[in-house]
Amino acid sequence: MPQSPPLDRAPEERIFAALDTPDLAQAARLARALKGAVGGIKLGKEMFTAQGPDGVRAISGGERLFLDLKFHDIPNTVAGAVRAAVHLRPYLLTLHAAGGRAMMQAAAEAAREAAEDAGTQAPRLLAITLLTSLDESDLEAIGQRGPVRDQVKRLAALARDSGMDGVVCSPHEIEALRSLCGPDFLLVVPGIRPAWAATGDQKRVMAPSEAVAAGADYLVIGRPITGQADPRAAARKIAEEIAAASGAGS
Ligand code: C5P
Repeated sequence: MPQSPPLDRAPEERIFAALDTPDLAQAARLARALKGAVGGIKLGKEMFTAQGPDGVRAISGGERLFLDLKFHDIPNTVAGAVRAAVHLRPYLLTLHAAGGRAMMQAAAEAAREAAEDAGTQAPRLLAITLLTSLDESDLEAIGQRGPVRDQVKRLAALARDSGMDGVVCSPHEIEALRSLCGPDFLLVVPGIRPAWAATGDQKRVMAPSEAVAAGADYLVIGRPITGQADPRAAARKIAEEIAAASGAGS
């Protein structure tokens, strides 16, 4: 049976708003508008490649940062990248579980050491298991053993055993990964759509309150927030839905 999620954080804290744009001014505007209405913001390769670390600093300000750079390289290189990323003070940082045990262990050690040297908190390292853009035939083509569901579990278990703090997973993997990896393993979940938002290109979505009830720790939500005329109101509405469903009030 899946574990019930602990009501250990305010509903808005569970939301990371994905600011998927290379435009610095637009992202900064969104981050300001969402301050206090979400738990943090997610910036990824698009922004990082366009605007660099200074752009990331300018946007994130003091907000909790989910730096979604999905590192995947030899252990020494990923350790160096993690050390460099620690200076941006991310709360969450991603890397590919397919990089293997030694790469993940090197990343975890680098995060701890760099944070200690800088006098900051180490980021929570999240592994990417299988990209949701891959299906069974892609797995076969890249020589990975399927089915997809088993490969996701295999990589999540490897990530946990290699010192990762959690994984990014699809809403439909939450229950299986929660029971496989235990209550303290972070499950960070995109593919979230409130009933009132357009699905867009996401194929298998889940409502925010359902994902939290299933055991998600954090939700990554982009267009249902950033694509609205009033992003702050949309974030608040989502937090209220989570609160109402968990009986925490709003
Ligand atoms: O706009 P939307 O809510 O679909 O954005 C979801 C965010 O989560 C995007 O930043 C997207 O890249 C990311 N993501 C995803 N599905 C995955 C992994 C990450 O949608 N499997």
